Amino acid sequence: MTRPQISLNLALSADGRITSPAGRPSGWTSQRDHRRLLQLRQAAEALIVGRGTLEADRMTLGAPHRPWRCVVSRSGRFDPGHPLFSSPGGPIHLLATAAAAPSIKGAEGHAGSLADFLAELHRRGIRRLHCEGGGGLARALAELDALDQVHLTWAGHTLFGGRENPGLTGPPGDFLPASLRYELADFEADPSSGECFLSYRRLRG
Ligand SMILES: NC(=O)c1ccc[n+]([C@@H]2O[C@H](COP(=O)([O-])OP(=O)(O)OC[C@H]3O[C@@H](n4cnc5c(N)ncnc54)[C@H](OP(=O)(O)O)[C@@H]3O)[C@@H](O)[C@H]2O)c1
Repeated sequence: MTRPQISLNLALSADGRITSPAGRPSGWTSQRDHRRLLQLRQAAEALIVGRGTLEADRMTLGAPHRPWRCVVSRSGRFDPGHPLFSSPGGPIHLLATAAAAPSIKGAEGHAGSLADFLAELHRRGIRRLHCEGGGGLARALAELDALDQVHLTWAGHTLFGGRENPGLTGPPGDFLPASLRYELADFEADPSSGECFLSYRRLRG
């Protein structure tokens, strides 16, 4: 099925987790991590996050070039008072995969599978889609083998801990149906922040 090229950006703690035990907003691990997040946004025509991340991080998904702002949910339960719906930015698209299309003023609702939604974005001209988490959505994209590039900030200075906390491919202890091979396209260590910045490209065929 035709879909946009999809990139993912996540910050990982030294123990491979993407969130702290209390599930507090993840924020940025450093100024450089933040700059990189903005840079990666800049290269995308549309951004996508899971509803958990939208809520936890109070995201508004803004950028000067006004990329489309897409949020994925099973339940379709969105809070109309969330700042996303009152902040300036690109068109908002809400997907519910197991409920009726969300109906919120100022947003376009969709119902159906994640794969069909990706195809619909492509049909409407989106060629570069960038995912900012969280683990649940990253996992679903990995299951579709739809992660073409993965960007990681490895924040070796912090252990997030937490037995149940998600990692790059979702909840711990839950294997992907098959391994996916990537090549390391870029690697930079930054001794001043104690972080490593990695970019991977999916190897196909
Ligand atoms: N370290 C980082 O770089 C980073 C980045 C992003 C987020 N985070 C952190 O990660 C935590 C959130 O993680 P999470 O795994 O709960 O986040 P998530 O993937 O953003 O949200 C999970 C929710 O998204 C929806 N969803 C996920 N996969 C779906 C699918 N395949 N189909 C339909 N809906 C789907 C569901 O929403 P419904 O409940 O509405 O059905 C699900 O409950 C937060 O604490 C956040 O701060 C960290």
